[in-house]
Amino acid sequence: MSASPAKPTYGDLTTQGASTNIAWHHTSVDRAARAGQRGHRSAILWFTGLSGSGKSTLANAVNAALFEKGLACYVLDGDNIRHGLCKDLGFSDADREENIRRIGEVSKLFLDAGVVVLTAFVSPFKADRDRARALVDGGDFIEIHCAADLAVCEERDTKGLYAKARAGEIKEFTGISSPYEAPEAPELRVDTGNQTLEQSVEQVLVYLSAQGIIAQAN
Ligand code: ADX
Repeated sequence: MSASPAKPTYGDLTTQGASTNIAWHHTSVDRAARAGQRGHRSAILWFTGLSGSGKSTLANAVNAALFEKGLACYVLDGDNIRHGLCKDLGFSDADREENIRRIGEVSKLFLDAGVVVLTAFVSPFKADRDRARALVDGGDFIEIHCAADLAVCEERDTKGLYAKARAGEIKEFTGISSPYEAPEAPELRVDTGNQTLEQSVEQVLVYLSAQGIIAQAN
């Protein structure tokens, strides 16, 4: 231990949007120190897909597998985040953009905190996902497309929302009356419409192992 307590260092004064005269504070415990202490690096696993495509289910199962291995990990789930941080947002294009902007920023904080963060948001717009990706370094943002077809999601209709959307009771419903822009080149595409949850979890874990985020299976 050093004799005197560590102090933050400050960057130059800047303006960020409506925030004037702010300076970045560099903390003495950084991401690398956290990774060293925890024995693993952090990452953002960004699950995207239609409602009912299995994002939350897969993110939850991967999170449980990572937790079991002793990793620091956390799920940010669209429905849950809309109970608090984003409860002021609806489902217009602009509100979805703001939803994803906030989650991109929150994910970046988790990344810095040394946590593997798993986000499960429809995140239907490519530009919004790309903005979240651009907030962090290459390799830290792993886009995982839960690629179940609309027909499969609608057939499952786990929350009964597709029936409501078809009946016109829900406006701007993704896949029905609001677009879903599928990722063109995600790090991973998971066939959540056809394969089992176990197969999908395994696919993600194999990828994380290849990226050095979890130890290689032997
Ligand atoms: S996103 O488009 O802004 O990324 P988000 O993932 O936060 O969406 O929330 C999606 C969840 O909100 C769905 O799982 C569903 O339960 C609910 N929901 C309610 N209305 C809609 C809608 N119009 N379109 C999509 N999902 C909706």
